[in-house]
Amino acid sequence: MSTLGSMQIRVVDDVDFATVGADAVLSGLTGAGACLGVATGGTPLRLYRELAHRTECGAIDLSSVSVVALDEYVGLSSSDPRSYASYVHGCIAGPLRIDPAATFVPDGAAADPDAEAREYEATIVGLGGVDVQIAGLGTNGHLAFNEPGTPIDGPCHVVTLSERTRRDNARYFDRRGDVPLRAITQGLGTIRRARSIVLLASGAHKGPALAAALHGPVTTDVPASVLQTHPNVTVVADRAAAALL
Ligand code: GLP
Repeated sequence: MSTLGSMQIRVVDDVDFATVGADAVLSGLTGAGACLGVATGGTPLRLYRELAHRTECGAIDLSSVSVVALDEYVGLSSSDPRSYASYVHGCIAGPLRIDPAATFVPDGAAADPDAEAREYEATIVGLGGVDVQIAGLGTNGHLAFNEPGTPIDGPCHVVTLSERTRRDNARYFDRRGDVPLRAITQGLGTIRRARSIVLLASGAHKGPALAAALHGPVTTDVPASVLQTHPNVTVVADRAAAALL
């Protein structure tokens, strides 16, 4: 392990990625009624499977935890299999035996997405904030769906997705044109209020964004660089993602 400012950087072999990530998450989830912020995407899936395995074995019990998603596509209802709501319920809340009533995802089908974003921010505040936020990294340095140019202190909001993000996420849709144009996302200000953050990065394609986020200037051009301003961040990166650090 190494440190960079107040960040802990753990560069791990592929086989250790899920266990080291799971340990980092669990160390911040102390006490009943903790709040876990969850990322979607491919990177954290192994970590969720590891937490599910520990749940099945009886090694951990997260049933009193609340789960809060980072983001959701505008235009997809929670029952749409491509929605992040489906991912959060299917890959996280269900396997971790978390109460569906304590599982929160912005409503992508809301008639007024801006109002939904405001309500989602209020929901997170009402839960007492996030204890541990799991975050992935976009190849353009985005955090949740905060694209380059997003103010570093903003609340939950509606964002227009960049072409690069839509291209990166097209693999989850039949056609690239099916990728929604907009999303509701926690803002960088919302994310920065989490008491601890675990940033996951896997694969050489994340290398440039990870290096820019950790070693570059804090800039809205690289949204994940705001993590340098947070007092409690653990980065778990495999060797390919960490190659440029
Ligand atoms: C999406 C999500 C992000 C996630 C990113 C990376 O854009 N909104 O929260 O971090 O994808 O996904 P992956 O882990 O599949 O590379």
